[in-house]
Amino acid sequence: MIKAVIFDLDGVLVTTDELHFSAWKRLAEELGIIGFTKADNARQRGVSRMASLEVVLEKTDRKFSDEEKNELAEKKNDMYVKSLKSLNKSAVLDGVVDFIAYLRNNGIKTAVGSASKNTPVILEKTDLADKFDAVSCGLNTQKSKPDPEVFLIAADKLGIAPSECVVIEDSDAGIEAAKAGGMYAIAVGEAEHNKMADISAASVDGLYKTIEMFGR
Ligand code: BG6
Ligand code: MG
Repeated sequence: MIKAVIFDLDGVLVTTDELHFSAWKRLAEELGIIGFTKADNARQRGVSRMASLEVVLEKTDRKFSDEEKNELAEKKNDMYVKSLKSLNKSAVLDGVVDFIAYLRNNGIKTAVGSASKNTPVILEKTDLADKFDAVSCGLNTQKSKPDPEVFLIAADKLGIAPSECVVIEDSDAGIEAAKAGGMYAIAVGEAEHNKMADISAASVDGLYKTIEMFGR
C-alpha cells in the first residue's frame, strides 16, 4: 500500500539539472579542464555539492586544499544561483503538476527529497512550493545520497513508514538511497536503465498506472 510519493527535485520536477551541468562545465573550463561531459555530469546527479565538485576535480592532476575546494564549490554555486534568476514555472517538467494533483486528490501525500540546498528557492520560483506536504533537502541532511537520510527525513516529516513510500529519481545515487531506506524506487530520465529500480519510466508524465499498480 502506497501512502506517499517522494520526488527528487533536479531533473525530476524541474529542468535545473541542465543549469547545474552548465555551471559545473564553466567551472571546469576555468580550471583548464576541457571535455567535461554529460557522462561526468551523470555522476554528479543526486549527490551533494562537495561530492559533485570531486567529480570535476578527478579530471585534473592539480591538488586543492579543503579551503580551495570550498571556494570552488561556492564559485559554482554563485554561477548556478545567477542562472536561477530567470527561473519560473516553465522549468517544471511535463506532466508534473497534473501528476501531483492526481496523487493529492487520491489521498497520497507528496514530498520533495533533494540533495540541493537551493531547494526552497527553486520550489518558490517555479510555483511548486505549496504542492508538497513535506520538504527534505540538503539544508537538513548530514549525509549525501546514496545514504537514505534525505528520504527517511521526508517520510518522517510526513508521518509515513518508509515501506509505504515511493521515491521518484533521475540519479543512480538516489535510486540506491531509496532502496537503502526500504522504499520503492521509480527511475526516470537519466536513471531510466538503473537495475535497482522497481519500475522505470521515461518521465514523471505517465506514471499514473504505475501508482495504481503499487496497490493504493
Ligand atoms: C542535486 C543535484 O539535486 O543537488 C546535484 O542532482 C547537486 O547535481 C546537488 O550537486 C546539490 O545542489 P546544490 O544546489 O546544493 O549545490
Ligand atoms: Mg535529480
